[in-house]
Amino acid sequence: MSLRQATLHQLKIFTILARHLNMTRAAEELYMTPAALSIQIKQLSQAMGAPLYEQIGKRLFLTDAGRLVDVASRDVHERLEVLAMDLAQAQGIESGSLRVSIITTAKYFVPRILGAFSKLHPGIDIALEVINRDHILERLRQNLDDLYIMGQAPDNLSVMALPFMENPLVIVAPADHPLAAKRNIDPKELAGEPFIAREPGSGTRLAGEHFFQERGVHLTTRMTLGSNEAVKQAVAGGLGLAVLSRHTLVLDAASGAFAVLDVQGFPLLRHWYAVYPMGKQISPVTRAFLTYIATEGTPKTVTSAPGSKPSP
Ligand code: PGA
Repeated sequence: MSLRQATLHQLKIFTILARHLNMTRAAEELYMTPAALSIQIKQLSQAMGAPLYEQIGKRLFLTDAGRLVDVASRDVHERLEVLAMDLAQAQGIESGSLRVSIITTAKYFVPRILGAFSKLHPGIDIALEVINRDHILERLRQNLDDLYIMGQAPDNLSVMALPFMENPLVIVAPADHPLAAKRNIDPKELAGEPFIAREPGSGTRLAGEHFFQERGVHLTTRMTLGSNEAVKQAVAGGLGLAVLSRHTLVLDAASGAFAVLDVQGFPLLRHWYAVYPMGKQISPVTRAFLTYIATEGTPKTVTSAPGSKPSP
C-alpha cells in the first residue's frame, strides 16, 4: 500500500484516536464500533508503511510515525477548513460581482440604486453598461450579463421579468408653450403640434406611438433624436413637444425650462423590469440585488401631477 491510499476519513479518525489514546472512547466519539475503528487504523498504518501506535498493557502510545501522521493530518484538516471558508466567501455576496446592462432611460435612476446597494456591500465589483434596446436584446440572447433593466420585457425571448418601479411617461413642452396652462387636453389637440421623437426601437417612442395610434391621432414628427438629453434640448429650444419618461426630468426641476402637459390618458403608466434569461443560475449577488430593488432599493414613485413643473 502507498501513502496515497490513505483517505481523509482515516486521517480524521486517527487524529481522534491520537487525542483520546483509547480505542473505545475514540470509537464512541466517531459513532463506530472499536472493531471498525481498528480496521481503519490498520489500513492507515499499511498506507503509511509503519505502525502508528503501540499498546503496552492497557495503555496506548503513538509511535514516532504516529506522531508525524497526527500532525500532518491536523494540518490537512485545518487547510480544508480554510478552503471551505474561502469557497463560502467566494460564493457569498461580499466578494462577488454584478454585471448589469440597462436601457438608456434607466441611467437616470439605476446608478443611484447601484450606489446605495454597493454602500451596503462594498466588496462587490459592479459593472454597468448603458445601451439601447437592440444591444440589450443581443446581450440577453448571448447571456452576457447577470441582469438587464428595461421598460418592456422582450416577447420573443424566454425571460423572467420582474417589475420593480413605475415608469410614467409624460408629454413635455417648453415652459412658455400655450398648452402649458391648459387642463385636461384632448390628445386630438396635439395633432397639429410638432413632436421630437426618440430613435426607432426606443421603448418610450413605441409606447407614445401606440397611445396615439390607438386613438387615431397622427402626430407630426419634426425631428428624431437618439437620446433623452438631445430631445430635452430640442424641446427647451422650442422645436416641439416630446413624450419622455418622467425620470429624465428629475434633475431639470429647478431649471423651469419645461412644462408637463395635462393630456387625457397621461401619464402613461409603464414599469421598469429587471430581466434575466429563463433558466439562468442566479448568483447570490444578483439575488441580493433583486431583493434590494424589490424592497429598500425602490426609490419613490415619480408622481408630480400633469400640468405641473417636473417634480424634484
Ligand atoms: P428607452 O426606454 O428605450 O426609450 O430608452 C426604455 C423603455 O421605456 O422601454
